[in-house]
Amino acid sequence: MISEDSQIVLPDDPSFGPEVQVDYPGYRSTRWRAPDRPLVTLPEDQHDPRGPVFGESAIDERDHDLTVRHDGEPLGERITVTGRLLDVDGRPLRGALIEIWQANAAGRYKHDVDQHPAPLDPNFDGAGRCLTDDDGRYRFVTIKPGSYPWGNHENAWRPAHIHFSVFGRAFTQRLVTQMYFPGDPLFEFDPIFHSVRDPKARELLVSRFDLATTSPAWALGYQWDIVLGRGGPGSTSFEEGDA
Ligand SMILES: [Fe+2]
Repeated sequence: MISEDSQIVLPDDPSFGPEVQVDYPGYRSTRWRAPDRPLVTLPEDQHDPRGPVFGESAIDERDHDLTVRHDGEPLGERITVTGRLLDVDGRPLRGALIEIWQANAAGRYKHDVDQHPAPLDPNFDGAGRCLTDDDGRYRFVTIKPGSYPWGNHENAWRPAHIHFSVFGRAFTQRLVTQMYFPGDPLFEFDPIFHSVRDPKARELLVSRFDLATTSPAWALGYQWDIVLGRGGPGSTSFEEGDA
């Protein structure tokens, strides 16, 4: 469970700043999805701090490893993605539920909506979850996702990314963002990446290849810390709702 002194910033917090342009013109569907009216403050009882509480028993020990839940191994480049969930003062946020979803190595989601002509992988469903440990650390074993085309504009392709969701102490305390991989040639063409307007904030969405995290002859390692606290130094940018 997250400690009482941990700072969780809600999406409707007054400190919600302009660093993420939720109605970003280059990202076409935000025209319909971005709020165009003042945010509504939910009644106090909707902020019940008692739930959800995710005990260890709610998480299967294989939930963090997306490569072992099927009959065979998924195709692609095996990677470990790990980092810490921190508040802006560097304190770890313990026991927080972190969920991820992603495309497979060919850039295809296991989802009916995704009809991109790339192969599905019967050994990969692209979803995982884990709880942060006492040091605020999460860890996933997965496959590096492929880039995929989307219909936003002519010849639009997403940089490789993993979607992350972080739950706080209540269902109203959910933040969603995307983690990228260093050196992706598609960064400069991606309106979603650029909807985070501050270049320094964009850099914080890019993971860091780490040889020390890399397992010899088994998996490349990436480090990516998530810092909660909008506007605070080094804080991670989050989306307005799901993506
Ligand atoms: Fe995606």
